[in-house]
Amino acid sequence: MLELKNIEAGYNKKPVLNDVSINLRKGEIVALIGPNGAGKSTVIKTVMGIVKARKGEIIYKGNSINGNNPVGNIRHGIVYVPQGNTVFSDLTVLENLQMGGYILSDKSIVEDRIKEVFNLFPEIEERKHLDAGNLSGGEKQMLAIGRALMLKPELLLLDEPSLGLAPKSIKKAFEAIKVIRDKFNTTILIVEQKVKEVLEIADRVYVLRLGKVVLEDNAADLKDVSVIKKAFLGE
Ligand SMILES: Nc1ncnc2c1ncn2[C@@H]1O[C@H](COP(=O)(O)OP(=O)(O)OP(=O)(O)O)[C@@H](O)[C@H]1O
Ligand SMILES: [Mg+2]
Repeated sequence: MLELKNIEAGYNKKPVLNDVSINLRKGEIVALIGPNGAGKSTVIKTVMGIVKARKGEIIYKGNSINGNNPVGNIRHGIVYVPQGNTVFSDLTVLENLQMGGYILSDKSIVEDRIKEVFNLFPEIEERKHLDAGNLSGGEKQMLAIGRALMLKPELLLLDEPSLGLAPKSIKKAFEAIKVIRDKFNTTILIVEQKVKEVLEIADRVYVLRLGKVVLEDNAADLKDVSVIKKAFLGE
């Protein structure tokens, strides 16, 4: 579904990613973990075309998408939920979802997808006429993911969906992510720092440190946290 081959990328003159190779098969949940500043968000931004790869190749469904812009990528089914609070606070929950479907010309599809999102997240349906700014952190994250689902992504890129959430909300958000994969066979790349929790839903894991992949494994084989700790610390 997605293959990053020997990617080098960064900001201005600052190199961040160095020879990063990552691949995702269709319907897989792949976790990208690593310490702060490792380059995890940069990986996602490079796939999305927000950051340009200086070297290497990005292959999506068999075609190179190097140099594609974010809008082009969205139209090809790649949808990105950025790190942090990304809902429109002054719009209602419903309006936020409608915004998520703004590129769809068939409004009946927009209505159907809103229903699908509400099936997945009944908590936010109860609050559909409320300004999104009034939602709890967990509800905002559900809305941010719900808004991404409006475009029925084939590849969903999630940047730290657990950020700022209480443990109970993290569990809920992660369960919902698994349901999305199981229901729609969406391929999901999830950046996370909540290692133990994300290992419960991920099929495979990459550990990124100082812009390099230092470990790649099946999530089921990585239950021994000391292996991950070593990879994080570079021991
Ligand atoms: N827009 C930018 N301009 C310049 N440098 C940046 C920019 N964004 C990120 N960086 C730098 O690139 C490096 C990697 O950042 P990135 O955001 O990819 O890390 P991360 O692994 O997502 O970290 P975190 O867990 O804190 O979100 C850091 O050193 C960061 O300071
Ligand atoms: Mg980040």
